[in-house]
Amino acid sequence: MATTADELREQVRARYAAAATGGCGCNDDGSCCGNACCEGGAGDFGEALYDRTQRDALPEATVLASLGCGNPTAVAELREGETVLDLGSGGGIDVILSARRVGPTGTAYGLDMTDEMLALARRNAADADVRNVHFLKGVIEAIPLPAESVDVVISNCVINLSVDKPAVLAEIARVVKPGGRIGISDVVAEDRLSAGERAERGSYVGCIAGALSQGEYEAGLEAAGFERVSVEFTHEVADGMHGAIVRGVKAR
Ligand SMILES: C[S@@+](CC[C@H](N)C(=O)[O-])C[C@H]1O[C@@H](n2cnc3c(N)ncnc32)[C@H](O)[C@@H]1O
Repeated sequence: MATTADELREQVRARYAAAATGGCGCNDDGSCCGNACCEGGAGDFGEALYDRTQRDALPEATVLASLGCGNPTAVAELREGETVLDLGSGGGIDVILSARRVGPTGTAYGLDMTDEMLALARRNAADADVRNVHFLKGVIEAIPLPAESVDVVISNCVINLSVDKPAVLAEIARVVKPGGRIGISDVVAEDRLSAGERAERGSYVGCIAGALSQGEYEAGLEAAGFERVSVEFTHEVADGMHGAIVRGVKAR
């Protein structure tokens, strides 16, 4: 029997709840604790994608909780006083790094649907002593923030997990201010791969089967109202599937 969207979302939630309570993510050799993270080889996901200076400035638990496929804080240009939103904030690493970048006059929001991840992120933010953060419970397909309230949306290996990508892209466009930016890390497929071929390369909850292709990402963001859209591959995580940096600016 086919899996419904609700069942798929519940599988994703359960997988990341287990990751949050399992106490570890990807090991240096690429293996994972208790099904804890996206599927890939050594260095494809997690803390290895952050430079030593960033890792050293964070509590160890925050670094270990990293389950992303890139480092959106390295690509998103964040300025003092800005409001940043991280979609699928997990253990909070990118929210904490962003909060420091925008400073005390700025705000960093993290949005996640998994209670266990929200609890972990709040603990990590307290340990890192950052105060300008807010962790919100909700789904990225219906962002619980007002229209045009965010300067920059970041996300790290989450949009591939969504069961309704057009809704996510429309919601990003709704909450970003005109002229606001996106800096997203995600798993992205080469255009030559069909949906079936993507699914042969890994599971949905493991961040592979649900990936958009490069062309689908670009077209979806342009349809949602973004300009200067680019999807740049950074590292291959499976045959024809890549960690990628997705950028764009909302039309004024
Ligand atoms: C692969 S982890 C990435 C976590 C974090 N961005 C990082 O880099 O460590 C995916 C996260 O997205 C959350 N998530 C997945 N689908 C979601 C959705 N539709 N709405 C909200 N959160 C979602 C999960 O609960 C999990 O915390």
